[in-house]
Amino acid sequence: MTIWTYRNPVDLHFGNGVIEQIGRVVAGRRYLLVTHPDAPIARWRDRVVALAGDPVAIADEVEPNPSLEMLARMCSRLSTIADRVEVVVALGGGSVIDSAKFLAAGHLVFKPVRDYLEHAQPLPGKALSLIAIPTTAGTGSDLTKWATIWDPQTDRKLSLNSDDLYAKSALVDPDITTSLPWGLTLASGLDALSHALESIWNVNANPVTRNFAVAAARDVLSALPALQVDLTDPGARTTLARGATFAGLAFSNTQTALAHNISYPITLRHGVIHGIACSFCLPEVMTAAIGAAEECDAALADIFGAVEAAPHRLRAFLSSLGVPQDHAALGIEEAEWQSIVTSAFSGPRGRNFIGRADRFSFRDRHPAANSEKK
Ligand SMILES: [Fe+2]
Repeated sequence: MTIWTYRNPVDLHFGNGVIEQIGRVVAGRRYLLVTHPDAPIARWRDRVVALAGDPVAIADEVEPNPSLEMLARMCSRLSTIADRVEVVVALGGGSVIDSAKFLAAGHLVFKPVRDYLEHAQPLPGKALSLIAIPTTAGTGSDLTKWATIWDPQTDRKLSLNSDDLYAKSALVDPDITTSLPWGLTLASGLDALSHALESIWNVNANPVTRNFAVAAARDVLSALPALQVDLTDPGARTTLARGATFAGLAFSNTQTALAHNISYPITLRHGVIHGIACSFCLPEVMTAAIGAAEECDAALADIFGAVEAAPHRLRAFLSSLGVPQDHAALGIEEAEWQSIVTSAFSGPRGRNFIGRADRFSFRDRHPAANSEKK
């Protein structure tokens, strides 16, 4: 019998209004609030402060795709309060939570974490405690021990990885996502779908991660079309947040796979938002995965009805949401696309992929294949 294990130490609280628990979770400790300056978040930032008391400082200058340069600036600005912070509270999407992990890992000091990322030096002792309140439904960073940091100057995607960087608590409140615009709702929802599918066609998959992933994919497939019609549909917002949470629980134990490895240069060089960059090619990745493992095929059949029809059904789903169906639509020429895919197979996440490179179809986007309805 195959032995498998599952571990996720995050104290997860999920539900409408769960943000009201932030005062109890912070419990009077001195905290740094990491967030971003967007107006829809201001209301929730005020609520956190009202419930948990005034923070030592608010760091709200987080930019999308957090870079070393931005984090250096943040650490420099926060240097005078670094020894007073006991807890880091992250209120935002993946960029905010990943930035908060960087700050927590180095106790708000830049150099040790930079040295870890660039020179493989060990992280300096135990990280500050982290409390994550996601404002999008998709990142999963509230349930993983990784942070993605970017260095556009050298065209690199860096990865922070430590058991210490699991959030101590995650408060997932679907109400917070209600005011998200469609573009961000779509991109973050498709990121969650990608996390779910990538954890299924993954060498690290096991029965627990597959169960979470199948439930996650079903939630995303049902919620996004409903939100396309009515962005404020509270039931669909809750379903999408639940799907993103299930996906986070799945890939926290498997990591992602080929589609994410493909996405990194597309985000770095072409500026494509992560959720689109890691999802537009899922049908091709799925085609290369099918047939590689019985359990993977069974999970895809559970989600899409029949494994043979799954790639076509996924294409139809992405088309119905207006997602670009070709790398050319993202500004990527054929030669670059082939190079990206080829090197992704041997990349750190690509090596998690169970499928075969010779089954990856570079030209498998026929209009007729898109005509089948889900
Ligand atoms: Fe992702």
